[in-house]
Amino acid sequence: MEWTIRVGRYNPEAQNMAGDVGPPYPPPYEAAPTKVYQTFTVDLPEHAVVLDALIDIREYQDETLVVRCACRSAICGSCAMWINGHANLACKSKLKDFTKDGVTTVESPPSMPVIRDLVCDMNPFWEKMRKVSPWLENKQPVPQGEEYRVPNASMENLIQEVACIACGACLMDCESFAINPDFTGPAALARAYRYADDPRDARSKERLEEYSGPDGIWDCTHCFECVQRCPKGVAPLDQILKLRHMAVDAGFTNNPGTRHADAFAESVRGSGRLNELTLLPKSLGLFNIAAQLKTLPSAFNMLRAGKLPPIIHHKIPGLERIKNIFKRVGGRFQ
Ligand code: SF4
Ligand code: SF4
Ligand code: FES
Repeated sequence: MEWTIRVGRYNPEAQNMAGDVGPPYPPPYEAAPTKVYQTFTVDLPEHAVVLDALIDIREYQDETLVVRCACRSAICGSCAMWINGHANLACKSKLKDFTKDGVTTVESPPSMPVIRDLVCDMNPFWEKMRKVSPWLENKQPVPQGEEYRVPNASMENLIQEVACIACGACLMDCESFAINPDFTGPAALARAYRYADDPRDARSKERLEEYSGPDGIWDCTHCFECVQRCPKGVAPLDQILKLRHMAVDAGFTNNPGTRHADAFAESVRGSGRLNELTLLPKSLGLFNIAAQLKTLPSAFNMLRAGKLPPIIHHKIPGLERIKNIFKRVGGRFQ
Protein backbone atom coordinates (compact mmCIF):
# COMPACT_ATOMS: atom_id res chain seq x y z
CA MET A 1 0.00 0.00 0.00
CA GLU A 2 1.38 3.44 -0.91
CA TRP A 3 1.59 6.27 1.60
CA THR A 4 2.68 9.86 1.07
CA ILE A 5 4.72 11.48 3.83
CA ARG A 6 5.60 15.17 3.96
CA VAL A 7 8.62 15.67 6.18
CA GLY A 8 9.73 19.01 7.67
CA ARG A 9 13.52 19.08 7.24
CA TYR A 10 15.84 21.38 9.13
CA ASN A 11 19.61 21.26 9.01
CA PRO A 12 21.47 24.12 10.72
CA GLU A 13 24.67 23.23 8.83
CA ALA A 14 23.21 23.25 5.32
CA GLN A 15 23.14 26.91 4.29
CA ASN A 16 21.39 26.29 1.00
CA MET A 17 18.66 24.21 2.59
CA ALA A 18 16.96 26.37 5.13
CA GLY A 19 18.25 29.86 4.31
CA ASP A 20 17.76 32.14 7.31
CA VAL A 21 17.22 29.59 10.07
CA GLY A 22 16.06 32.16 12.60
CA PRO A 23 16.64 32.19 16.34
CA PRO A 24 17.29 28.77 17.85
CA TYR A 25 14.80 28.78 20.69
CA PRO A 26 11.15 29.41 20.02
CA PRO A 27 8.47 29.91 21.42
CA PRO A 28 6.86 31.92 20.05
CA TYR A 29 5.87 29.60 17.23
CA GLU A 30 6.28 32.27 14.57
CA ALA A 31 10.00 32.49 15.45
CA ALA A 32 10.55 28.81 14.63
CA PRO A 33 13.44 28.03 12.28
CA THR A 34 12.59 27.83 8.62
CA LYS A 35 11.93 24.30 7.45
CA VAL A 36 11.97 22.75 4.04
CA TYR A 37 9.21 20.24 3.40
CA GLN A 38 10.06 17.19 1.32
CA THR A 39 7.55 14.64 0.11
CA PHE A 40 8.28 10.91 0.03
CA THR A 41 6.23 7.90 -1.02
CA VAL A 42 6.61 4.63 0.86
CA ASP A 43 5.16 1.18 0.30
CA LEU A 44 4.00 -0.25 3.63
CA PRO A 45 1.14 -2.44 4.89
CA GLU A 46 -2.14 -1.03 6.18
CA HIS A 47 -1.19 -1.45 9.84
CA ALA A 48 2.08 0.54 9.47
CA VAL A 49 2.77 3.46 11.80
CA VAL A 50 4.38 6.83 11.05
CA LEU A 51 7.70 5.68 12.48
CA ASP A 52 7.76 2.70 10.08
CA ALA A 53 7.46 5.18 7.22
CA LEU A 54 10.26 7.41 8.55
CA ILE A 55 12.59 4.46 9.05
CA ASP A 56 11.75 3.21 5.56
CA ILE A 57 12.62 6.62 4.11
CA ARG A 58 15.89 6.71 6.03
CA GLU A 59 16.84 3.17 5.02
CA TYR A 60 15.89 3.21 1.34
CA GLN A 61 15.52 6.81 0.12
CA ASP A 62 17.45 9.40 2.12
CA GLU A 63 19.94 8.26 4.74
CA THR A 64 20.43 11.86 5.94
CA LEU A 65 16.94 11.98 7.50
CA VAL A 66 17.39 12.33 11.28
CA VAL A 67 14.79 10.63 13.50
CA ARG A 68 15.00 9.76 17.19
CA CYS A 69 13.51 6.44 18.26
CA ALA A 70 14.37 3.39 20.30
CA CYS A 71 11.68 0.99 21.53
CA ARG A 72 9.10 1.26 18.70
CA SER A 73 6.58 0.19 21.36
CA ALA A 74 5.39 3.48 22.96
CA ILE A 75 7.59 2.86 25.99
CA CYS A 76 10.81 4.87 25.70
CA GLY A 77 9.15 8.20 24.84
CA SER A 78 11.82 9.22 22.33
CA CYS A 79 9.78 9.50 19.11
CA ALA A 80 7.38 12.31 20.07
CA MET A 81 7.05 14.76 17.18
CA TRP A 82 4.45 16.84 15.41
CA ILE A 83 2.19 14.78 13.18
CA ASN A 84 -0.37 16.83 11.27
CA GLY A 85 0.22 19.78 13.60
CA HIS A 86 0.02 18.03 16.97
CA ALA A 87 2.46 16.13 19.17
CA ASN A 88 2.17 12.35 18.97
CA LEU A 89 4.37 9.29 19.31
CA ALA A 90 5.37 8.29 15.77
CA CYS A 91 5.55 4.63 16.79
CA LYS A 92 1.96 4.67 18.05
CA SER A 93 0.36 6.68 15.23
CA LYS A 94 -1.06 4.53 12.46
CA LEU A 95 -0.69 5.96 8.98
CA LYS A 96 -4.28 5.09 8.16
CA ASP A 97 -5.49 7.26 11.06
CA PHE A 98 -3.27 10.23 10.25
CA THR A 99 -3.41 10.42 6.47
CA LYS A 100 -5.41 13.52 5.55
CA ASP A 101 -6.17 14.25 1.89
CA GLY A 102 -3.67 11.52 1.01
CA VAL A 103 -0.74 12.99 2.99
CA THR A 104 0.72 12.75 6.51
CA THR A 105 2.84 15.72 7.57
CA VAL A 106 5.62 15.10 10.08
CA GLU A 107 7.93 17.71 11.64
CA SER A 108 9.66 18.71 14.84
CA PRO A 109 7.44 20.68 17.23
CA PRO A 110 7.96 24.43 16.79
CA SER A 111 7.66 24.98 20.54
CA MET A 112 11.02 23.28 21.17
CA PRO A 113 14.52 24.08 19.87
CA VAL A 114 15.25 22.00 16.78
CA ILE A 115 18.51 20.08 16.52
CA ARG A 116 18.00 18.57 13.11
CA ASP A 117 15.05 17.36 11.04
CA LEU A 118 12.64 15.58 13.40
CA VAL A 119 14.84 15.73 16.48
CA CYS A 120 14.23 18.52 18.96
CA ASP A 121 16.29 19.46 21.99
CA MET A 122 14.53 18.05 25.07
CA ASN A 123 16.55 20.10 27.55
CA PRO A 124 13.68 22.52 28.29
CA PHE A 125 11.57 19.49 29.21
CA TRP A 126 14.22 17.99 31.51
CA GLU A 127 14.98 21.34 33.16
CA LYS A 128 11.31 21.58 34.14
CA MET A 129 11.29 18.02 35.46
CA ARG A 130 14.35 18.73 37.61
CA LYS A 131 12.80 21.97 38.87
CA VAL A 132 10.02 20.13 40.76
CA SER A 133 12.49 17.93 42.74
CA PRO A 134 11.14 14.62 41.43
CA TRP A 135 12.20 12.45 44.32
CA LEU A 136 10.92 11.54 47.77
CA GLU A 137 12.31 13.25 50.84
CA ASN A 138 12.32 10.66 53.61
CA LYS A 139 10.00 11.12 56.52
CA GLN A 140 11.88 10.69 59.76
CA PRO A 141 12.57 8.43 61.45
CA VAL A 142 13.39 6.17 58.51
CA PRO A 143 12.19 2.63 59.37
CA GLN A 144 15.18 0.46 60.10
CA GLY A 145 15.33 -3.00 58.59
CA GLU A 146 11.86 -2.80 57.07
CA GLU A 147 9.98 -1.03 54.30
CA TYR A 148 7.87 2.08 54.62
CA ARG A 149 4.32 0.77 54.97
CA VAL A 150 1.61 2.83 53.30
CA PRO A 151 -2.03 1.90 52.75
CA ASN A 152 -2.78 0.77 49.18
CA ALA A 153 -5.56 3.33 48.91
CA SER A 154 -3.17 6.23 49.42
CA MET A 155 -1.10 5.12 46.42
CA GLU A 156 -4.04 4.62 44.05
CA ASN A 157 -4.21 8.34 43.21
CA LEU A 158 -0.62 8.26 42.04
CA ILE A 159 -0.86 5.37 39.60
CA GLN A 160 -2.03 7.54 36.71
CA GLU A 161 1.07 9.76 36.83
CA VAL A 162 3.45 6.85 37.25
CA ALA A 163 2.49 5.77 33.70
CA CYS A 164 4.31 8.84 32.31
CA ILE A 165 7.08 7.89 29.85
CA ALA A 166 8.55 11.42 29.71
CA CYS A 167 7.95 11.78 25.98
CA GLY A 168 7.30 15.53 26.23
CA ALA A 169 4.27 15.48 23.91
CA CYS A 170 2.18 17.38 26.46
CA LEU A 171 4.74 20.16 26.79
CA MET A 172 5.21 20.42 23.03
CA ASP A 173 1.55 21.41 22.60
CA CYS A 174 0.98 23.25 25.88
CA GLU A 175 -0.56 26.67 25.25
CA SER A 176 0.86 28.23 28.41
CA PHE A 177 4.36 27.06 27.51
CA ALA A 178 3.93 28.54 24.04
CA ILE A 179 3.60 32.02 25.51
CA ASN A 180 5.73 31.57 28.64
CA PRO A 181 8.83 29.37 28.31
CA ASP A 182 9.27 29.48 32.10
CA PHE A 183 5.92 27.78 32.80
CA THR A 184 6.71 24.58 34.70
CA GLY A 185 4.57 22.65 32.25
CA PRO A 186 2.16 19.72 32.33
CA ALA A 187 4.52 16.74 32.68
CA ALA A 188 6.63 18.31 35.42
CA LEU A 189 3.56 19.41 37.37
CA ALA A 190 2.01 15.96 37.05
CA ARG A 191 5.29 14.55 38.40
CA ALA A 192 5.18 17.18 41.15
CA TYR A 193 1.76 15.90 42.19
CA ARG A 194 3.07 12.33 42.30
CA TYR A 195 5.54 13.34 45.05
CA ALA A 196 3.48 15.98 46.86
CA ASP A 197 0.66 13.50 47.50
CA ASP A 198 2.88 10.57 48.46
CA PRO A 199 2.38 9.80 52.17
CA ARG A 200 6.09 9.00 52.50
CA ASP A 201 7.21 12.49 51.45
CA ALA A 202 8.34 14.91 54.15
CA ARG A 203 8.34 18.04 51.93
CA SER A 204 4.75 18.08 50.75
CA LYS A 205 3.93 21.47 52.28
CA GLU A 206 7.08 23.18 50.97
CA ARG A 207 6.40 21.68 47.56
CA LEU A 208 2.87 23.08 47.50
CA GLU A 209 4.11 26.55 48.42
CA GLU A 210 6.76 26.36 45.71
CA TYR A 211 4.36 25.13 43.01
CA SER A 212 1.84 27.88 43.94
CA GLY A 213 4.33 30.57 42.93
CA PRO A 214 4.95 32.20 39.54
CA ASP A 215 5.09 29.81 36.52
CA GLY A 216 3.47 27.06 38.61
CA ILE A 217 0.06 25.43 39.01
CA TRP A 218 -1.92 28.64 38.53
CA ASP A 219 -0.35 29.46 35.17
CA CYS A 220 -2.14 26.59 33.40
CA THR A 221 -4.95 27.91 31.19
CA HIS A 222 -7.00 24.66 31.06
CA CYS A 223 -6.59 24.28 27.31
CA PHE A 224 -6.75 20.46 27.71
CA GLU A 225 -4.04 19.93 25.07
CA CYS A 226 -1.95 17.88 27.52
CA VAL A 227 -4.89 15.59 28.22
CA GLN A 228 -5.48 15.03 24.51
CA ARG A 229 -1.84 14.60 23.59
CA CYS A 230 -0.68 12.23 26.33
CA PRO A 231 -0.22 8.71 24.90
CA LYS A 232 -0.35 7.13 28.36
CA GLY A 233 -3.50 8.62 29.84
CA VAL A 234 -1.63 10.62 32.47
CA ALA A 235 -4.00 13.58 31.99
CA PRO A 236 -1.57 16.16 33.44
CA LEU A 237 -4.32 18.78 33.81
CA ASP A 238 -6.13 16.47 36.26
CA GLN A 239 -2.98 16.23 38.35
CA ILE A 240 -2.53 20.03 38.24
CA LEU A 241 -6.09 20.48 39.51
CA LYS A 242 -5.38 18.05 42.38
CA LEU A 243 -2.29 20.08 43.27
CA ARG A 244 -4.40 23.26 43.29
CA HIS A 245 -6.85 21.68 45.73
CA MET A 246 -4.01 20.53 47.95
CA ALA A 247 -2.35 23.96 47.85
CA VAL A 248 -5.56 25.78 48.76
CA ASP A 249 -6.30 23.29 51.56
CA ALA A 250 -2.78 23.87 52.87
CA GLY A 251 -3.50 27.63 53.04
CA PHE A 252 -1.50 28.86 50.03
CA THR A 253 -4.17 31.25 48.81
CA ASN A 254 -2.34 34.57 48.62
CA ASN A 255 -1.53 34.41 44.93
CA PRO A 256 -3.15 35.72 41.73
CA GLY A 257 -4.33 32.23 40.73
CA THR A 258 -6.37 31.58 43.87
CA ARG A 259 -7.68 35.15 43.95
CA HIS A 260 -8.75 34.76 40.31
CA ALA A 261 -10.66 31.54 41.08
CA ASP A 262 -12.26 33.19 44.15
CA ALA A 263 -13.26 36.32 42.20
CA PHE A 264 -14.71 34.17 39.43
CA ALA A 265 -16.80 32.09 41.82
CA GLU A 266 -17.86 35.13 43.86
CA SER A 267 -19.10 36.91 40.73
CA VAL A 268 -21.06 33.92 39.38
CA ARG A 269 -22.58 33.14 42.80
CA GLY A 270 -23.54 36.81 43.33
CA SER A 271 -25.00 37.66 39.92
CA GLY A 272 -25.11 34.49 37.83
CA ARG A 273 -22.53 35.81 35.41
CA LEU A 274 -18.93 36.88 35.21
CA ASN A 275 -18.13 40.49 36.08
CA GLU A 276 -15.07 40.95 33.92
CA LEU A 277 -14.57 44.52 35.08
CA THR A 278 -13.75 43.45 38.63
CA LEU A 279 -12.10 40.13 37.81
CA LEU A 280 -8.68 41.50 36.94
CA PRO A 281 -8.24 43.94 39.87
CA LYS A 282 -9.40 41.25 42.32
CA SER A 283 -7.03 38.69 40.79
CA LEU A 284 -4.03 40.99 40.84
CA GLY A 285 -4.87 42.33 44.31
CA LEU A 286 -7.02 45.43 44.90
CA PHE A 287 -4.06 47.43 46.22
CA ASN A 288 -1.55 46.19 43.70
CA ILE A 289 -1.68 49.43 41.73
CA ALA A 290 1.57 48.80 39.82
CA ALA A 291 0.29 45.51 38.37
CA GLN A 292 -3.07 47.06 37.55
CA LEU A 293 -1.46 49.99 35.71
CA LYS A 294 0.38 47.49 33.50
CA THR A 295 -2.98 46.24 32.21
CA LEU A 296 -4.06 49.70 31.00
CA PRO A 297 -2.80 49.21 27.39
CA SER A 298 -4.94 46.06 27.09
CA ALA A 299 -7.92 47.93 28.51
CA PHE A 300 -7.48 50.70 25.89
CA ASN A 301 -7.22 48.07 23.15
CA MET A 302 -10.48 46.51 24.36
CA LEU A 303 -12.11 49.93 24.48
CA ARG A 304 -10.99 50.67 20.92
CA ALA A 305 -12.31 47.31 19.72
CA GLY A 306 -15.64 47.90 21.50
CA LYS A 307 -15.08 44.91 23.76
CA LEU A 308 -15.04 46.60 27.13
CA PRO A 309 -17.44 44.79 29.51
CA PRO A 310 -20.55 46.73 30.65
CA ILE A 311 -19.95 49.15 33.53
CA ILE A 312 -23.22 48.20 35.25
CA HIS A 313 -23.30 44.52 36.08
CA HIS A 314 -26.80 43.02 36.16
CA LYS A 315 -28.00 39.88 37.92
CA ILE A 316 -29.54 37.17 35.78
CA PRO A 317 -33.14 36.06 36.37
CA GLY A 318 -33.43 32.84 38.40
CA LEU A 319 -30.25 33.50 40.36
CA GLU A 320 -31.47 31.25 43.17
CA ARG A 321 -30.82 28.20 41.01
CA ILE A 322 -27.17 29.21 40.64
CA LYS A 323 -26.87 29.72 44.39
CA ASN A 324 -28.34 26.27 44.94
CA ILE A 325 -25.68 24.76 42.69
CA PHE A 326 -23.00 26.41 44.82
CA LYS A 327 -24.67 25.05 47.97
CA ARG A 328 -24.82 21.55 46.55
CA VAL A 329 -21.22 21.61 45.37
CA GLY A 330 -20.17 22.83 48.82
CA GLY A 331 -16.59 23.67 49.68
CA ARG A 332 -15.22 27.15 50.13
CA PHE A 333 -17.50 28.80 47.54
CA GLN A 334 -20.92 27.94 48.98
S1 SF4 B 1 -4.19 22.25 30.26
FE1 SF4 B 1 -2.63 23.57 31.20
S2 SF4 B 1 -0.81 22.32 31.41
FE2 SF4 B 1 -2.22 21.27 30.00
S3 SF4 B 1 -1.53 21.91 28.00
FE3 SF4 B 1 -3.14 23.34 28.59
S4 SF4 B 1 -2.12 25.05 29.61
FE4 SF4 B 1 -0.63 23.37 29.44
S1 SF4 C 1 2.45 13.24 30.78
FE1 SF4 C 1 2.03 12.00 28.97
S2 SF4 C 1 2.53 13.36 27.25
FE2 SF4 C 1 3.45 14.24 29.07
S3 SF4 C 1 5.52 13.47 29.12
FE3 SF4 C 1 4.30 12.05 30.35
S4 SF4 C 1 3.63 10.46 28.94
FE4 SF4 C 1 4.37 12.15 27.69
S1 FES D 1 10.20 4.68 19.76
FE1 FES D 1 9.96 4.50 21.92
S2 FES D 1 8.11 5.59 22.28
FE2 FES D 1 8.27 5.57 20.14
